[in-house]
Amino acid sequence: MLEVIKNRRSIRTYIEKEVEEDKVMEILKSAMQAPSSKNSSPWEFVVVDDKEILSKLSNTHHKSKQIKDANLCIVVIGNKERFFKPGKWIHDLGACTQNILLECTNQGLASCWIGVHPKRKVMDRVRAALNLPEILIPYSIVSIGYSEEKNEFIDKFDENKIHRNRFE
Ligand SMILES: Cc1cc2nc3c(=O)[nH]c(=O)nc-3n(C[C@H](O)[C@H](O)[C@H](O)COP(=O)(O)O)c2cc1C
Repeated sequence: MLEVIKNRRSIRTYIEKEVEEDKVMEILKSAMQAPSSKNSSPWEFVVVDDKEILSKLSNTHHKSKQIKDANLCIVVIGNKERFFKPGKWIHDLGACTQNILLECTNQGLASCWIGVHPKRKVMDRVRAALNLPEILIPYSIVSIGYSEEKNEFIDKFDENKIHRNRFE
């Protein structure tokens, strides 16, 4: 198993240490390297490090509080102009968000996926905080920062989930 896959965990506490710009760029490069249906790359990213906007985003729902302590967050957004096949963009942005998490781990950063789509109220709050036009659909937020918490490996392997040839 790849080390970053093994070591990635959702980390929700951060210290006050700035994330270097070159690391942010590496994360965004990995995000855009994700597979997508018809190679549509239907994503846009808003990198937020403004304290006031981070605070607004942290109030989008009860499990987004950690955003206000993060050094930055990346909001992953779908661009309707590039939704070539109905529903596929959701899978594309899932793969993209996972790439962000894995690259954060690779860069020695703590991160956590915060759900946005498909909850209408949450999407509206993110849309308002970022001033997004209708054509852009907020999908997820990844909070990012340095942390003193260790990524503890938890073995999630479960043999019972594996089925051979047909479901018995
Ligand atoms: C679609 C999705 C939405 C999630 N939403 C949130 C969230 O809103 N807030 C949060 O703190 N964690 C969120 N998580 C993180 C999960 O809680 C976490 O991945 C899960 O508990 C397993 O822990 P691990 O990531 O450390 O392996 C989300 C994860 C996914 C994949």
